[in-house]
Amino acid sequence: MADSTNQGVTYLPNKKRSVPEDLDSDGIGAKKQVLSSPLNGGLVDPAASLANARHEFGEHGGVNMSIETSATFTVLEPETMGRMFSGELGPDQDYFIYSRHFNPTVMNLSRKIAALEGTEAAYCTASGLSAISAVLLQLVSSGGHIVAGSAIYGGTHSLLTHFLPRVCNITTTFVDITDLEKVEDAIIEGKTNVLYFETISNPSLRVANIPELSRLGHSKGLKVVVDNTFAPMVVSPARLGADVVVHSVSKFISGGADIIAGAVCGPASLLNSMMDLHNGALMILGPTMNPKVAFELSERIPHLSLRMKEHSNRALVYATRLEKLGLKVIYPGLESHPQHEILKSIANKGYGYGGLLGIDMETEEKANKFMSYLQNHAQFGFLAVSLGYYETLLSCSGSSTSSELNEEEKKYAGISPGLIRVSVGYVGTLEQKWSQLEKAVHKFYENGLPNKN
Ligand SMILES: Cc1ncc(COP(=O)(O)O)c(C=O)c1O
Repeated sequence: MADSTNQGVTYLPNKKRSVPEDLDSDGIGAKKQVLSSPLNGGLVDPAASLANARHEFGEHGGVNMSIETSATFTVLEPETMGRMFSGELGPDQDYFIYSRHFNPTVMNLSRKIAALEGTEAAYCTASGLSAISAVLLQLVSSGGHIVAGSAIYGGTHSLLTHFLPRVCNITTTFVDITDLEKVEDAIIEGKTNVLYFETISNPSLRVANIPELSRLGHSKGLKVVVDNTFAPMVVSPARLGADVVVHSVSKFISGGADIIAGAVCGPASLLNSMMDLHNGALMILGPTMNPKVAFELSERIPHLSLRMKEHSNRALVYATRLEKLGLKVIYPGLESHPQHEILKSIANKGYGYGGLLGIDMETEEKANKFMSYLQNHAQFGFLAVSLGYYETLLSCSGSSTSSELNEEEKKYAGISPGLIRVSVGYVGTLEQKWSQLEKAVHKFYENGLPNKN
C-alpha cells in the first residue's frame, strides 16, 4: 500500500490496512465469519483460558491496549466501503465501519469475555438487560414462546411478562427450573424457541442443573440461554451445554459498582447475525458499549478470578457461621441448600460457590431493621441494590430488585418478604467484618427480633 494524501492529511502505510496472511493479495478469500476465535484448546479453568487469550498491546508498544475511540473509520479506496458493507471485508481483517457495528476496543474486551466463558465469540453491550433483550429478540420472532425460570432478576421478569408480549407478541411461561418435569411440560413443540434461566437465581439462589436443562432443551430443538451474572468463573454454562451465556457485566466482572455493561457469549454465527445490517438486534437496536468503558473493563478482567475466590470464601464463612447462630441462611455452598450437590458437581474447582447469600428474616420489617443496624451501627455493609462490589451490599429483594413480581410470583420464585440479599464484599479482614456482623446478630436477638430458629 503506497502513501496517499487525503484532505491535506498524509496517510502512512497502516499496518492495520495491510493484507492479513491468510488472504489473497486483494484481501478476498477471507472467511466471512468476523468473530470466531479459537476455543482456547478446551481449557476448563476460566483463568487458564483467559491467560491463553490474545493479549492486545498498545499502538506504541504499551503493555495495555490502545483505546479506539473513533465512531467512524476511513478507507483508502471508495470501493472498499462497498466490500465492507456487503460483509466481504470485516473486523477480523481489521476493517471497521462504524462503532455501533464492531469497534476494535470493544472487540478486545469481548474476546476476553468469550475466553472466560469458553465460547467461540462474545460481544459487549451497554447493559446486562440490553444483552438479554437483544439475544432474545434475535432468537425469537413474533408469535414465538420462551420457557423461563420463575426465579430470575426482576427487570428480566418484566421484559418477559410485559414488554415482549405487548410489543413483539412473544410470550413466556415461567417454571421452577429445579423441576425438570415442569420444564418439559411447559415447552410447546413447534412454538417454544428458547429455554432461559439464571445459573444461580436472583435473589433466591436456586441453582440450575445446566447439563440436564441443556439436554432437555436441545431434545426439543430449543436454544438454551443462561444468565451467568451471579457466577462468573464459578460456573461455565457453555462448557456444560448452554448455547448462549449472557452477563450483567455491571456486577462481578466490573467489580467497581461504577459501570453499567453487558455481554452476549455464544457461537460466532449468532454474534455475527446480531450485527447484521438488516436483521441484527445489536446493530439495529444499538445497545452499544463505549470503547472507553470497554478499556476500563478489560483492565479488571485479569483479577476477576482472585476477586471471585475471595467473594466466595467470605460468603461461605459467613453463611456457615450465621447458620450456626440460628439464622435462616440460603447459600448454595451450604449442605442445607437443596441444590448444593448440583452446584458442587458443575462448579469449576477452586472458585467456591459464589458471593451472594440470603438471610430470611421472615418479614420486611425485621429485614429493614436488621439491614439498617448492619449499615448504620455495625458498619458491615451498604444498603444498596446491585452486587459484585468490593464492599458488602444489602437489599431486601421483595421490595426492591424483585418488586416487579406480584405476590404470587414472588412466592413461586421463593422470595420471602423478609429475604435479605447479601452481596459479600472483601474489604477489610474477614475476622474484622465477621465480628461486625456477629455483633449485629447478637444485638438483634437481644431486642427480641427475630426468633431464633
Ligand atoms: C441476574 C441479573 N441479570 C441481569 C441484570 C441486568 O443487568 P444491568 O443492570 O447491567 O442491565 C441484573 C441486574 O441486576 C441481574 O441481577
